Amino acid sequence: MADEAEVGDNEPLHHANEGKSSISLIFFKFFGVVFLAGALCYLFISNFIAWTMEAKKVSLLLEKQDALNVRPVMKESIFKEQQLKKEVCDLSVGEWLPNVAGPAYTDETCIKKIPGYLNCLKNGRPDTEYLHWRWKPSACDLHPIDPLKFLNAMRNKSIAFLGASICHNHVLSLICQLSKVEEALDIFHDSSFKTRTWYYPSHNLTLYVIWAPYLIHYETIDNHGDKSQIDTHLHLDILDSKWTSEYNKYDYVVISGGGDFYRSTIIYENNQVIGCHGCQPHMKLRHFAADEIYRKALQLSLKFIATAEHKTFTILRTWSPMHFEDEELPNKKVCNRTKPFREEEISGSPSVLNKMREVEVEECEKAATIGASNGVRIELLDTYHLSLLRPDGHPGPYNIYNQFDSYKKKEVHYDCVHWCLPGPIDTWSELLVLKMLNSGVADDSVSA
Ligand SMILES: *[C@@H]1O[C@H](CO)[C@@H](O)[C@H](O)[C@H]1NC(C)=O
Ligand SMILES: *[C@@H]1O[C@H](CO)[C@@H](O)[C@H](O)[C@H]1NC(C)=O
Ligand SMILES: *[C@@H]1O[C@H](CO)[C@@H](O)[C@H](O)[C@H]1NC(C)=O
Repeated sequence: MADEAEVGDNEPLHHANEGKSSISLIFFKFFGVVFLAGALCYLFISNFIAWTMEAKKVSLLLEKQDALNVRPVMKESIFKEQQLKKEVCDLSVGEWLPNVAGPAYTDETCIKKIPGYLNCLKNGRPDTEYLHWRWKPSACDLHPIDPLKFLNAMRNKSIAFLGASICHNHVLSLICQLSKVEEALDIFHDSSFKTRTWYYPSHNLTLYVIWAPYLIHYETIDNHGDKSQIDTHLHLDILDSKWTSEYNKYDYVVISGGGDFYRSTIIYENNQVIGCHGCQPHMKLRHFAADEIYRKALQLSLKFIATAEHKTFTILRTWSPMHFEDEELPNKKVCNRTKPFREEEISGSPSVLNKMREVEVEECEKAATIGASNGVRIELLDTYHLSLLRPDGHPGPYNIYNQFDSYKKKEVHYDCVHWCLPGPIDTWSELLVLKMLNSGVADDSVSA
């Protein structure tokens, strides 16, 4: 904004000629009148165009919804009504309100599901105010998950979550909120517990968590500890077979990107090195920005989903904001807030406009259009802004048991990336459930 002001100041000033004659005055008046009339005409026409474009957008939207109406049993009018309701209530716009009720689960009710690094209270977090907020969308109400309703609607279904550790974080939040009705059985995990499968026997529901941090194919090369080498090699034109090979099993897919896109990588296309992210100048490679790589990964993934013969309902969950802040010590980043931000506290901050989220919004919109023509539904679950307002939701120093005691001599490690369980991430699950119940794929349907 400061830049704009400077540009304004530097604009050449137009000085009127010294020797004004009456003829030029008449000319000025004449052109003044013509100019005013022109401006009025322009205003009228541009408003008219904007209005027609809006009308066209609405009709396109309705057309798109028609294409998505895959439920023959649901009456057209009811379906439209639900769609309209969804459009009217943008769940991502709202505010955090105090909530005396508190979270839907605790470490005791969600038995053995909360991993140590997310179990903030158990790790000694002293403040509990962060557990007492609920997200209130401006145009409607968001209710706690009704686990029985959800599990019944998901009978015989499977949901795949693709991503990295935040994705895992999110699944655990969902599992904990459903645990009141049924415990998830851990039926599969890989050696690192990164790719896992949970099963709900009473409802025949399967949850897959697939570790696909880039969504596209990557290899990790062993550089024998040589720190000057980059060990991750990314292929922009090959999808991660970890999820594509099992794709036919999934009814719902929840996609999310994560912090790995910021790591140093060598970039390939056609099995040729075409660039890198975060590499040294001496490597003489074209630099790829993180959001550029992310866009490529999303494009390839969403194209696969939108055009696949096997049709899923796919939800792209937007970027998860981190909340590192500077402490007095140089290079020391911490997070130790205990309250949500108010809207004014973040407005104007660069993090409000996140490039990664922008990429998600754009690519999701494009893919949704392609998907619609193929009977595949692709939607955005925009949790970015509501999460940005919750700097108090991260484990911070409480990602390890009593870190301040046992590590007194060592440097305290802060986690300002993941989210405490329970915590504000539970809202993501509420929004996800709402979207899925309104999906037109499940057997039950609800409205917000
Ligand atoms: C679930 O699958 C079982 C076995 O195939 C079937 O009997 C039942 O009707 C299905 N239930 C629903 C709600 O699809
Ligand atoms: C569980 O769901 C799958 C997929 O719909 C179905 O093939 C299977 O028969 C179901 N099993 C039971 C026990 O209902
Ligand atoms: C936490 O916040 C307080 C202010 O509320 C600040 O003084 C302190 O340096 C921060 N860091 C730690 C580690 O407590």
